[in-house]
Amino acid sequence: MRTDLSFANLAGIETGLLAVLAADAQTSKEPGAKPIPVLLTGDEAVKAAAATVLSSGEYKAGANETLLIHAPAGLAAKRLLIVGLGKQAKTTVNQVRNAAGTAVRFAKPRGIRELVFVHPESEPLPASPAARAAVEGAFVGDFDPDTYRSDRKDQSIQSFTLAAPGNSDQSALQAALAEGAIVGESQNFARSMVNEPGNMLTPAILGRRAAEMAADAGLVCEVHSTEMLHELKMGAFWSVAQGSAEPPALIVLRYEPEGVTDGPVLGLVGKGITFDSGGISIKPGENMEKMKYDMAGGAAMIGAMRAIALLKPRVRVLCVVCAAENMPDGKAQKPGDVQTAMPIAPERPGKTIEIINTDAEGRLVLADGLTYARQLGATHLIDAATLTGACVVALGMINAGAFSNDDATYAKFDSALAVSGEKFWRLPLGEEYAEQIKSDIGDIKNTGGRWGGAITAAEFLKVFAEETPWIHLDIAGLAWVEESKPYIAKGPSGVAVRSVLEWVRSYTK
Ligand code: BES
Ligand code: MN
Ligand code: ZN
Repeated sequence: MRTDLSFANLAGIETGLLAVLAADAQTSKEPGAKPIPVLLTGDEAVKAAAATVLSSGEYKAGANETLLIHAPAGLAAKRLLIVGLGKQAKTTVNQVRNAAGTAVRFAKPRGIRELVFVHPESEPLPASPAARAAVEGAFVGDFDPDTYRSDRKDQSIQSFTLAAPGNSDQSALQAALAEGAIVGESQNFARSMVNEPGNMLTPAILGRRAAEMAADAGLVCEVHSTEMLHELKMGAFWSVAQGSAEPPALIVLRYEPEGVTDGPVLGLVGKGITFDSGGISIKPGENMEKMKYDMAGGAAMIGAMRAIALLKPRVRVLCVVCAAENMPDGKAQKPGDVQTAMPIAPERPGKTIEIINTDAEGRLVLADGLTYARQLGATHLIDAATLTGACVVALGMINAGAFSNDDATYAKFDSALAVSGEKFWRLPLGEEYAEQIKSDIGDIKNTGGRWGGAITAAEFLKVFAEETPWIHLDIAGLAWVEESKPYIAKGPSGVAVRSVLEWVRSYTK
């Protein structure tokens, strides 16, 4: 998708679709108070073209509510699309992101390949963040997951133009546009990997995709396999990989901006289970096909690294993705087995883990991933994983779970959410929960029972983060969009890419 900026008069723009935002200016909370839809543009020609229908009461400017006007009077555009944001007083940049996605997804099935999106003018919407978000939303909306349909018609949008008033800060908008394109494309890159079925995206192929991206974006990349796992004594990671005919991939990406030799080193760690059958503790057949997206945390980190490489924040970042298939096999690990995790240093033995359930494999690969990131020099850690069904039970598919052992580090992540528009809800940790994962035979066990399952999984990871400030993101409920929305297709969401990116950028401020 090409992105452009235009400062031309809206009335004269020739396009198949001119999209303009509307909000409900009604402030009264009285039951009978009718919505007052207003357009978020100062352009008189556009306002005149929409005046009749807006005064009809048929359109309420609800969030992502659309209204199409063909051959709008006084405009050169063939169609005028109005996209709602909901209450004007509560308008956010994230609603602009979604509205842009809605405009794109409106255009796609109608064979419209180019659209012009009117940059919203409305207090207190900040101009550049809104522009960036609109472009991000357009990319997000443009993605469809139907890659393997033999009758697939390419409906992708070729050109997205942001139309802003002539008196705008043109260079600031240009920069926002470029940034939005990088972020949106990186999120879609992550989604494209998550969308792949297990047979098409094995751990080795995930490694290849990361390496190709790294070569294009200018990152250092290493992809290791079985031998290196043994060399590093990654007993937890290997215990998952050993049950599959597909060799594991230990993917390492490094971003080292020139001249930055001190300050933090941020370690991004991702769960890259390309298929999770559960292993010997095999999952029920129903919905098992969904477990191809069990590498969404890893893909999010690889996607974030792409955006980091292109946006070039002045902070060092490294990324470790532990990719494996979790399969039952003659060589697979068994419940009751005891595994030894990677030691952080030769003189410190690795922690021993009693395997209670081979389906709690994500925390095993992440344990060694976190240790390895620390060994490589990470001073701060963030991990993303489709880790627990319990997190989905707790928070549904609205908020993803977040955990941290350090309030200051989490505060930075919380601020990043305001920019990314993604929803994460912090859940607690604590000694009492850690009790649940104590083992009789070894140091810890890999499950803590049914209650508080998302928390005990996080407690397990915390053991490996040790004293390093760390954030854990459990994205099990949000990595896959179960029902299509006006602004995003059903399928992989790319959640966490934007928030992790913003968290990283917060270390340069
Ligand atoms: N990959 C799953 C978690 C998951 C569930 C992801 C639903 C996406 C949607 C994870 O490996 C898993 O199987 N977790 C178990 C842990 C249990 C055995 C302690 C779970 O949540 O049931
Ligand atoms: Mn599992
Ligand atoms: Zn899993």
